[in-house]
Amino acid sequence: MSKTIDVTDLDIYYSKFLAVEKATMVIEPRSVTALIGPSGCGKSTFLRSLNRMHEVIPGAYCTGSVVVDGQNLYGKGVDPVQVRRKIGMVFQKPNPFPTMSIYENVLAGVKLNNKRLKKSDADDLVEGSLKGANLWNEVKDRLDKPGSGLSGGQQQRLCIARTIAVKPDVVLMDEPCSALDPISTLAIEDLISELKENYTIVIVTHNMQQAARCSDKTGFFNIEGTGKPGKLVEYDDTTKIFNNPSQKATEDYISGRFG
Ligand SMILES: Nc1ncnc2c1ncn2[C@@H]1O[C@H](COP(=O)(O)OP(=O)(O)O)[C@@H](O)[C@H]1O
Ligand SMILES: [Mg+2]
Repeated sequence: MSKTIDVTDLDIYYSKFLAVEKATMVIEPRSVTALIGPSGCGKSTFLRSLNRMHEVIPGAYCTGSVVVDGQNLYGKGVDPVQVRRKIGMVFQKPNPFPTMSIYENVLAGVKLNNKRLKKSDADDLVEGSLKGANLWNEVKDRLDKPGSGLSGGQQQRLCIARTIAVKPDVVLMDEPCSALDPISTLAIEDLISELKENYTIVIVTHNMQQAARCSDKTGFFNIEGTGKPGKLVEYDDTTKIFNNPSQKATEDYISGRFG
């Protein structure tokens, strides 16, 4: 559980278009790394390349390396399905399976991975995952009801429960709060702070207060113009990025001068 992600010279393409150029960063375990930057600078693209979700888009590929636990995820013979099992992802819009019960939603990822589970083990896994996602108390009396009956914030925590039920090492989150109200957002931020005890967390956010509140490290991506590749401009401790960045572009961005 909880692994270092060592990214070196990652060039990320959509066919001929270079979307992110030469990204290099070491993402620490048991910590939250936030990725910020203006729209279109490649945050989501970079995030999806960390668990080989990028290449599901036709023509999309990358070069360079992403090493987790001594293994280059892009090395020969690496099974992307296994990679995605160890490096889970939570999306912007909560996406529980609407016709499945809360219980079945938690197990959906585990089932996809072909795990046969005894009923008692499944019950334990559902309870543990929902507790891990700070949702258990709110849903324990209605586990058989559809996941779609929950509020947006609860649905997002259900999706997080589904992700951690698979027992990943890393959890990637792409703007997980952008569809949520402020109270649900704070609940998810609290949860992120708890999850970092056990997982490596990487979160894309357009909310700089959120990055400042809940991350240990921050990476600032920027783009020089349309058609140009996004670049990781600065990566450092979150307090450094927000109080005393080294790059002018970072300072301009965090002080709201553009983006
Ligand atoms: N499926 C796609 N096909 C082609 N280009 C894409 C695709 N998704 C994103 N892009 C392009 O890649 C660049 C980075 O996009 P994205 O990673 O979504 O940025 P961000 O998440 O920072 O807003 C943009 O120029 C965007 O238009
Ligand atoms: Mg994005």
